[in-house]
Amino acid sequence: MKTEAPVIVRPARNLRGSVRLPGDKSISHRYAMLAGIAEGPSRLENYSTGADCASTLGCMRSLGVAWERNHKDGIIEVQGRGLSLTAPKTPLDCGNSGSTMRMLSGIVAGQRFTSAMVGDESLSRRPMARVITPLSAMGAQIESHDGKPPLRITGAALKAIDYAMPVASAQVKSCLLFAGLFADGETRIEEPLRTRDHGEVALRAFGAKLERKACGQGAVMGHEVRIRGGQRLRGIEARIPGDLSSAAFFLCAAALFPGSQLTIPSLLMNPTRARLLDILMQLGLRISVTQLDEIHGELVGSLQVEGGRLTQATIAGPDSAALIDEIPVLAAIAPYTEQGIEVRDAKELRVKESDRIAALATNLRLMGAQVEEREDGLKIPGGQTLHGAELDSFGDHRIAMAFAVAALRAQGETLIRGAESAAISYPAFFQTLEEVTER
Ligand code: S3P
Repeated sequence: MKTEAPVIVRPARNLRGSVRLPGDKSISHRYAMLAGIAEGPSRLENYSTGADCASTLGCMRSLGVAWERNHKDGIIEVQGRGLSLTAPKTPLDCGNSGSTMRMLSGIVAGQRFTSAMVGDESLSRRPMARVITPLSAMGAQIESHDGKPPLRITGAALKAIDYAMPVASAQVKSCLLFAGLFADGETRIEEPLRTRDHGEVALRAFGAKLERKACGQGAVMGHEVRIRGGQRLRGIEARIPGDLSSAAFFLCAAALFPGSQLTIPSLLMNPTRARLLDILMQLGLRISVTQLDEIHGELVGSLQVEGGRLTQATIAGPDSAALIDEIPVLAAIAPYTEQGIEVRDAKELRVKESDRIAALATNLRLMGAQVEEREDGLKIPGGQTLHGAELDSFGDHRIAMAFAVAALRAQGETLIRGAESAAISYPAFFQTLEEVTER
């Protein structure tokens, strides 16, 4: 297999070996942004190798933050500038990265200059009203293309807000917490469902104080976070744990074969991200966790997994938000389970790097699977035999990787066009998959 498109994936017997993953993408983005607005230097080890996190570093440089990557060990050293950045001379290029555009908009909204933010074709189709509305309420002036990129953000002396987010989005929550640092008073953000908390954990690691608690009533418990403006951050030295959403592809691939045995050291185990492990155990993968540790508030552990029978799963309600990045690969292995996988309440998948519900249904059908596509999810019966096919990644890294996994148990070869999009989060994916695949 090569990393240039198209990639051909042949059927496998099982997966064996050890996979050490590049640093978590969600944490890498946040550390790069916070290191830039902290005082003093930060040293970030195992920073994500994906193009998305490189986009964040590129934007930080355009905002006057000096950083260097050590060529030997890949460690990123960032010279924090404190809360005041410098006006960018050219538009901030967010590439394919929704995380960069949404979270960084919270920081540039607090600056005394105007920033233009642009993205590639896919990012230019993605909804930004979710950050434009609250940041405008805080006092920033934002122009957009009908709620979509490009954005032109004129920062201001921000006012704190009390804001109930209509969409459960960790990117939006982090954006507003970052903006809250620049606001006058206490910002309170309420999320309808608990989403990943890397923004909160990272802010604390960089020395900020914030309060969090559950709120709401009955079955639907929300979650609130409060942060005071004017707090100063200080740089950190950190090793970023392995990316759990990238690990998902290897875990699901291992799950396809009873003979698989895989070890994944130093993996992120943050409880707001680890729902995948419960679902995989429920499906039939045997997982044991050793060497649990905490680094700057993030839980890290080593995983040992063994394949077994795969039964069935339903992903709905809060699980759909918690598993949003892992649903593509879970859906891609669904036909090989005994009773199938049903995904509901996952409408957000339609506004990711591609319309992931449509992309999953299209590719699964091309492989001969029966699939029921719904507005907010998919129902995929189990016990199916798939055949190799010519597929498209739809320019979406997670679709490219999900179908490389599905192809391992198909009959015949599968060709994936646009497989190079895997580099958005995981440039070495195809090579690493090849290294642990036995045929
Ligand atoms: C992310 C949150 C999720 C996820 C994305 C990364 C984050 O997006 O899909 O890949 O790091 O906060 P939303 O905030 O749009 O749910």
